[in-house]
Amino acid sequence: MALDMGGGFTLRQAGDEDHDALAMICLKTGDAGKDASAREDDPLLIGAIYALPYQVIEPLFAFVIEHPDHGVCGYVLGAPDTDRFYRVIEQTWYRTLRTKVADPGPDMRAWRGSDWARRLIHHPKYVFPKSLYPYPAHGHIDLLPVAQGKGLGGTALRFLMAQLAARRVTGIHLGVDPKNTGAVRFYDRLGFTPLVADDLPKGSLYMVKSF
Ligand SMILES: CC(C)(COP(=O)(O)OP(=O)(O)OC[C@H]1O[C@@H](n2cnc3c(N)ncnc32)[C@H](O)[C@@H]1OP(=O)(O)O)[C@@H](O)C(=O)NCCC(=O)NCCS
Repeated sequence: MALDMGGGFTLRQAGDEDHDALAMICLKTGDAGKDASAREDDPLLIGAIYALPYQVIEPLFAFVIEHPDHGVCGYVLGAPDTDRFYRVIEQTWYRTLRTKVADPGPDMRAWRGSDWARRLIHHPKYVFPKSLYPYPAHGHIDLLPVAQGKGLGGTALRFLMAQLAARRVTGIHLGVDPKNTGAVRFYDRLGFTPLVADDLPKGSLYMVKSF
């Protein structure tokens, strides 16, 4: 299956062979939508949290955008049942990863480079309080600059949401860095609204949409 997105771009199901590209795209868009390479001392860890496990645990809802000249230049990843996804990622993916990555400890002032990610691997923040129950799916979307601003993100996220809705999922939530104003505007254009609720972590931003 490949969806023609125009301009030579296609959307297709992601596979194991895309893991390097998923990790690279996650890194290149990991600082509130901008390149996080300069910040990280381990370029793979950010993708090991926000991208690869989605393809491994929910392959039916993992898609990449590809172009003959640019290669894989974007992804949209979904978890239809966040509660289940967090249970599985804890018991499988993180359990394995923790044997390879050392916990830098709780003192944030001592953290350097990718220590924030090492800490998160050992102490993940599973945010799924009651206010998010009507939006049981969650996901991530990131496109390299070469693919941005062409309507591809909108097409890809709508495609993912149609796949989720076809499986009777009732809605989706997306965590956004509040500093990433471009992404907030993008989700707004796609009909998402910011969720205001007491049970969400302070300073966080969750955009939600019912199907
Ligand atoms: C955010 C992102 C997914 C949007 O995808 P995109 O293909 O660039 O966006 P589209 O071209 O489909 O735009 C769809 C709509 O959102 C708006 N939009 C998209 N990016 C925007 C931005 N940075 N600032 C303002 N509006 C934006 C577009 O103007 C368009 O509105 P319209 O329907 O009125 O024309 C993509 O730019 C990206 O991956 N950015 C870097 C990583 C990132 O921030 N990911 C999100 C993390 S939460």
